[in-house]
Amino acid sequence: MSTYDTLSLAVGDDGVALLTLNRPDALNALNSTMMREFAEALDEATRAEARVLVLTGAGRAFAAGADIAEMRDRTFGDMTDADHLSLWERLAQLRIPTIGAVNGFALGGGCEIAMMCDVLIAGEGASFGQPEIALGIIPGIGGTQRLTRIVGKAQAMDLVLTGRRVDAAEAHRIGLVSRVVSDADVLDEALTAARKIAGFSARAVRAAKECVLRADQTPLSEGLLFERRWFHSLFAFADQTEGMSAFLDKRPARFTDG
Ligand code: CAA
Repeated sequence: MSTYDTLSLAVGDDGVALLTLNRPDALNALNSTMMREFAEALDEATRAEARVLVLTGAGRAFAAGADIAEMRDRTFGDMTDADHLSLWERLAQLRIPTIGAVNGFALGGGCEIAMMCDVLIAGEGASFGQPEIALGIIPGIGGTQRLTRIVGKAQAMDLVLTGRRVDAAEAHRIGLVSRVVSDADVLDEALTAARKIAGFSARAVRAAKECVLRADQTPLSEGLLFERRWFHSLFAFADQTEGMSAFLDKRPARFTDG
């Protein structure tokens, strides 16, 4: 377990990395220290050969957004010279699958980093929103872009223009989250899903993630070709023979990443 000032990281023998945002007194508001440490923790998880990353928040929030106290006196020059907030994008660039385990508030930047996760599991008491408009700004870590791609223009405009919050049930209905479970079960559910994914062939998992993400970025014909090329490629590896043999032999597969 590595403890930073604003977060902690634990990478288990099962290949699952658990990264916990840890400024509970400020509802895990995302400040500069946390952003820098977050990037360092992702590097650490990569060095430790984590196969899946679970991201959660300590206390009663996943994260209540960028740190307003830190931002209030910043100028345009400060923001643009430092390209403030840009390091959060490192989460979206991870090659391994990421699972967000959301208890409590996921607002502003908190909602935006939740949306970078590949799978999002919410507790029934969780709430999501992009309240930046009430602060005289707009979302700045992808909230106008990822939210629109995920839930469509009508829902995204409603959330971004009014700043209203949606509860977990509504977030599930509009396709923002993958699953809703009881608040007490969120982390277990996420870790169980992570362990399951970590047990599959790493190459097949990477191919699956890359292909699904392509769906957002290419016309259908290109995406289908990309998928088929990956599908064919997986037949170059021993894990394909093992997975299919195990099915036919009626036994669990033993993937070796070969
Ligand atoms: N930044 C800094 N501090 C924050 C914070 C934030 N985003 N959100 C909460 N806090 C702090 C509060 O100031 C408070 O600190 P003190 O105890 O020192 O007063 C503490 O966390 C607890 O918060 P509340 O007392 O407000 O708790 P509550 O239960 O009454 O309300 C809440 C919870 C509805 C989440 C409310 O805290 C809130 O509205 N927070 C701000 C949400 C927000 O506007 N987020 C967007 C930020 S801008 C952004 O994220 C831009 C971007 O796209 C990157």
